[in-house]
Amino acid sequence: MTTLDAALSGTFSIGGDLTVNRLGFGAMRITGKGIWGPPEDPEAAKATLRRLPELNVDFVDTAESYGPYVSEDLIGEVLAPYAKGTIIATKSGLTRTGPDEWPQLGRPEFLRQGAIQSLRRLKVEVLDLWQLHRIDAKVPRADQFGAIAQLQKDGIIRHAGLSEVSVDDIKEAGKYFKVTTVQNMYNLVSRKAEDVLDYCEANGIGFIPWRPIDGGNLESTSTEFKAIMDKHEASASQLALAWMLKRSPVMLPIPGTGKVKHLEENIAAAAIKLSDDEFKTLDRIGRQA
Ligand SMILES: NC(=O)c1ccc[n+]([C@@H]2O[C@H](COP(=O)([O-])OP(=O)(O)OC[C@H]3O[C@@H](n4cnc5c(N)ncnc54)[C@H](OP(=O)(O)O)[C@@H]3O)[C@@H](O)[C@H]2O)c1
Repeated sequence: MTTLDAALSGTFSIGGDLTVNRLGFGAMRITGKGIWGPPEDPEAAKATLRRLPELNVDFVDTAESYGPYVSEDLIGEVLAPYAKGTIIATKSGLTRTGPDEWPQLGRPEFLRQGAIQSLRRLKVEVLDLWQLHRIDAKVPRADQFGAIAQLQKDGIIRHAGLSEVSVDDIKEAGKYFKVTTVQNMYNLVSRKAEDVLDYCEANGIGFIPWRPIDGGNLESTSTEFKAIMDKHEASASQLALAWMLKRSPVMLPIPGTGKVKHLEENIAAAAIKLSDDEFKTLDRIGRQA
């Protein structure tokens, strides 16, 4: 029988004091098409959220812009009061003008409003981890980073992170507040953020790869990949997740779904232990792809 336990992925301490199981959940997919409005099947989305604590998933990523508000509202409705140790990470810095539209807005008052309203929707007194969804090029960086520092001083957020940033961005933001997590697109076949991941690992910063289960359809193009799948009786996306968990101890993948079955498949990846040789083979295949 497959073991379903996110704790098998090991733990990471966000900001040195919030320990979570490394394999988490991304709550962007519990919304409608184009990440807009309510999910097509609200009961399935709610059942997916209810299943999280049963699988020891205690790290959930969301954002005010998912829906917008739908994801945070559902999390607050289904999971609050939260199981002990559950960390809900949210984000602000993007507005929504329609399905699949995400204009950036980094004005300090918008970031502050976002955080304060997230408190209400998530039904918490402090946001354990709040992330700037994008650095807005139209707004002075000092204003955006200063607003985050102020949210921390005011006790509205505990830890702060960034999303889609370079190493230089992290260093610059670090002059204003301690950067505890970075969320960039990264998976077996999308490796642009490799330098950012290495920087995070060297500095104890949690790295949250988004779009984590994209395995690039490698099972149909690589016999080596297929052989490792067969050996572990794993799907391609499970293998991609297992590879990422072994890639770095600061890696916190957040596969997203609105379906219990898919959630269970994703969490089963925590039990897959790749050998060093398998890891290297997958690494090479992913880079070539
Ligand atoms: N910081 C950022 O800019 C940013 C950007 C994008 C996402 N994120 C975060 O990262 C999380 C993950 O990213 P993502 O949702 O784009 O990518 P993902 O988790 O790699 O993939 C999600 C997609 O794969 C499907 N899926 C999930 N599990 C599956 C399974 N076991 N079998 C088959 N299909 C499966 C989902 O559909 P079903 O619902 O049908 O399962 C969904 O379409 C998001 O939830 C969000 O929290 C952050």
